[in-house]
Amino acid sequence: MNGPQISPGLFEPLTIKSVTLPNRFVMPPMQRGWSKDNVPDRALADYYVARVRGGTGLIIGESSAIDHPSATGQSAAVTLHGDAVPVWAHIVGAVKAAGGHMLLQLWHEGAMRTRGSNGPAPHAPTLSPSGLVWAGRRNGEAATADDLDAILDAYVRAALTAWSIGADGVELHGAHGFLLDQFCWHETNVRADEHGGEVLEARLQFPLRVVRAVREAVGPDFLISWRFSQWKEVDFGARIFDTPSQLQETLCALRAAGVDLFHASTRRFYMPEWPGSDLGLAGWASACTDAPVIRVGSVGVKDKMFDVPGEPDELDPLASLGELSRRFDRGDFTLVAVGRALIGDPDWVNKVRDGRFDAIRRYDSSMLGTADWDLALAMEGLGRFGIGH
Ligand SMILES: Cc1cc2nc3c(=O)[nH]c(=O)nc-3n(C[C@H](O)[C@H](O)[C@H](O)COP(=O)(O)O)c2cc1C
Repeated sequence: MNGPQISPGLFEPLTIKSVTLPNRFVMPPMQRGWSKDNVPDRALADYYVARVRGGTGLIIGESSAIDHPSATGQSAAVTLHGDAVPVWAHIVGAVKAAGGHMLLQLWHEGAMRTRGSNGPAPHAPTLSPSGLVWAGRRNGEAATADDLDAILDAYVRAALTAWSIGADGVELHGAHGFLLDQFCWHETNVRADEHGGEVLEARLQFPLRVVRAVREAVGPDFLISWRFSQWKEVDFGARIFDTPSQLQETLCALRAAGVDLFHASTRRFYMPEWPGSDLGLAGWASACTDAPVIRVGSVGVKDKMFDVPGEPDELDPLASLGELSRRFDRGDFTLVAVGRALIGDPDWVNKVRDGRFDAIRRYDSSMLGTADWDLALAMEGLGRFGIGH
């Protein structure tokens, strides 16, 4: 069968601490809205197991709100406490029984939260570093030192829950403009205390405290992934790191605090991050850390999740696999996350391995919708803050 040359290395195992993944393919966290009263649906177990059977080496569960009243305002978001715990235990158990590996993603919306919506604690205040969601746009209030201590404790409790139900680790959601990302970004963290301000090192202090506290609680072996991005749901052109050295400073500090792997979230994996080089964000990250790096963004899918004026078209799905292999072989990344293509076809990884490209069931955005949820709802932040994507 004609098709792109796929690097055999993508199908080689990788050991991170005591976890050996069978290959380099990861299912990234994707909210599906399969929930009731913020408790995930047990059907998610079959959904994830189908991806394990289809060859996916590592599953990262969808963003799960930590146990703090300010964590989420979304009615369709899942949590990782209360009635959600036995369901997550069922899901993780099913994934492990199928021979898979799973991290759970821990999430706090920060200033992206809508107060008074149908989330778990609708009347709780919305808390974030400085009550800013984006370049001077206010939403909610700045967290006090006591609030931050309580939020940190909630991250630790969630990580311990993930550990106790048999997950291989957690991913801290430090991307896309949510709480931990808001700490890192100069637009959303203008605090005058030790957790913020103009200096990147100060803005990193709360994220570093969270990583250290989680590491101390879960012990040395449990995996901690840190997801980060330049882009935010409210601003696709945002940049936390103006220079590669700022990226390096951040990753080095997080690594020293206890992070085992980095998940560099981009919307298109092949877009250069800085002028003068074709390296994407994951490529730069790999150059400045010894930890494994996951790359992501429009692998095997031709679908504009957001139609942003001036952005180039997606690569052809098969061409994207050739480009991915080229970048893997030159050491740009360690693992690759495949999101929407795996929604389209649970057997995507095995079909790519076997060169059965014609047999791949192609993703299209109509596959996302359910009776009470769709992508528009998940991305409600955009409309909410008057961003016209
Ligand atoms: C339906 C949907 C839900 C998503 N939910 C999350 C989420 O819960 N946490 C997160 O970090 N990213 C989330 N993302 C982003 C994905 O993890 C991934 O980065 C993105 O889809 C790009 O990968 P792809 O081009 O392979 O789909 C979501 C994406 C989609 C399409």
